[in-house]
Amino acid sequence: MEYSNVMSRPAPFTPPRAVLFDAYGTLFDVYSVALLAEQLFPGHGSPLSVLWRDKQIEYTRLVTTSNHGAHYLPFWELTRAALVFAIKKLVPYASGAGATGTFDAQVEQLMNQYRSLSAFPENRSVLQTLKERGIPTGILSNGDASMLHLAVKSSGLHGLLDHIISVDPVRKYKTAPEAYALGETTLGMPAGKVLFVSSNAWDALGATWAGYQTLWVNRYQLPFEELGTQPTRTGTTLRDVLDFFPTSSP
Ligand code: LAC
Repeated sequence: MEYSNVMSRPAPFTPPRAVLFDAYGTLFDVYSVALLAEQLFPGHGSPLSVLWRDKQIEYTRLVTTSNHGAHYLPFWELTRAALVFAIKKLVPYASGAGATGTFDAQVEQLMNQYRSLSAFPENRSVLQTLKERGIPTGILSNGDASMLHLAVKSSGLHGLLDHIISVDPVRKYKTAPEAYALGETTLGMPAGKVLFVSSNAWDALGATWAGYQTLWVNRYQLPFEELGTQPTRTGTTLRDVLDFFPTSSP
């Protein structure tokens, strides 16, 4: 069995039987909003897209870990709040006196873009190949169900994923164990038999801690988290998923 183009650990002893993908950053490019952000706020597009994403994730942790979940909000609402914060921080004049109408319209424009983020180019063929190899697939994401269904549809991945799992029913975001457990209950198999794929290092780490086999798709040549645990493997594109499922797999 040959595993090409993949770094870190050797082949797992037991090949996984299903794959779950993180959505934002892994299937959908969260930084593709930078272009529109640059048009709206010249000179700030790229930092805005980065701060927006970082703040969004920070908010998921705040509402999950504070006050027994009393401040939970769906991912769409957290995404909007994070965007407003990012604009106010980086482009303070945009939300200043007299700018309210324009500001609201700019926020809406960027939120609309977030509804249909660009998908990474290799997604379709990887999902198609997994389907041909008979591997059950799904998304396990912090996104709420309506966001996820829309993103899947608008990126042309409709029909290529067997499950779209949102953490929303448990009102806890990854990396809460209840969020990762949804993958096991939906697939009806223990985490150790499932490959979890994420481009977010923190998510690959959380899933590894939750017992999944993991592939960290390191698209931006970043270091992994320094907390003593490594993902099962590290790759550079979604295509590296296929090395877990050679053609001889059932
Ligand atoms: C997701 C985000 C957090 O769960 O990447 O899809």
